[in-house]
Amino acid sequence: MKLRHFISLSFFILISVCIAITIGFSFTSSLSPISEDDEQEGLSEQIIINFSHVVAENTPKGLAAQRFADLVRDKTEGHVKVEVFPNGMLFSDGEEIDALRRGDVEMVAPAFSKLTSLVPQWQVLDLPFLFRTDKDVERAFTGEMGKILLELLDEHDIKGLTLWNNGFKQMTSNRGPLIMPEDFVGQRFRIMPSNVLREQFEMMGAIPNRIGFNQVYQNLETNFLDGQENTISNIYSKRFYQVQNYMTISNHGYLGYGVLINKKFWDDIPKEYQEDILEASNETSDWLFEQSVLMNNQQLVRIRQQSNIQIYELSEQEHEQWRKYFEPLYKKFEGDIGNELMDEVKKNQSKSYSRGS
Ligand code: LMR
Repeated sequence: MKLRHFISLSFFILISVCIAITIGFSFTSSLSPISEDDEQEGLSEQIIINFSHVVAENTPKGLAAQRFADLVRDKTEGHVKVEVFPNGMLFSDGEEIDALRRGDVEMVAPAFSKLTSLVPQWQVLDLPFLFRTDKDVERAFTGEMGKILLELLDEHDIKGLTLWNNGFKQMTSNRGPLIMPEDFVGQRFRIMPSNVLREQFEMMGAIPNRIGFNQVYQNLETNFLDGQENTISNIYSKRFYQVQNYMTISNHGYLGYGVLINKKFWDDIPKEYQEDILEASNETSDWLFEQSVLMNNQQLVRIRQQSNIQIYELSEQEHEQWRKYFEPLYKKFEGDIGNELMDEVKKNQSKSYSRGS
């Protein structure tokens, strides 16, 4: 190796090591209790909760995480501090649940689908047309269904605090309008890791691909993928609409989040602060029910203004045709999901589909 190359290589290694040490130091120090805090005279020990998520700050989950952090600070008078890390800057969506269980991060809020391989009963929330209206979602999240799902996490070293909502998913593609299930034949679609979602696309003759959220844009742009399904706020904030020509407002599935904290870390938090944290997470959920609907509506308007994407809205009749088409998935997954949750589904749907809500 020439001397000049050797010197450049050594310099590069030296700089990399310094950067790694600095990053490691700042991350570790944020995990340690703080014994002194200039702004909070008298705080002898502050509990730090690092909260990692994968979406942008201007999304329902991004705003909820920040609101939750503010509420926790106010309720605990600064004794508990939530540090929010958006955009997958700490962990990608493929890593965050394992990182939480190992205790490498204290809080995450993955989309439901990402919990389905750990807890198969969570597949219930991926069933197409599970909810018809936002009211149905709220009733299920705050009722028995939400309670059962959160309790199931206990045995996996996870304390489930609450459920947060984002919104109904819509379909986008580059290959043509998606009006009937046969329009999906042969198209490569990005899905979140979930067997229900895989089956949903396979039923239509599409080719599902499990791809991390922060790789979707690039794969759409290079045409490795033809399409994807997501909420308007995710389609907007990640600019998927700029690399897709067609969007169908199908409301065929729902995307929300489990708000999770490492169980061992949780058990060590003094009871009074646990109550404050729970209250903060639930107050954030209540706020989010309205906020996310507003946000998805506003961002749909912006997508219409800022792009030439062709938007098709399914008619009531088409919507009903899609719903019937996917009905066999309920039978197929009822074994994994279990009777208790399937009974809740029936109860919720009978309140919505037959009587309106
Ligand atoms: C996705 O992967 O599409 C979503 O989980 C992103 C998110 O967290 O909203």
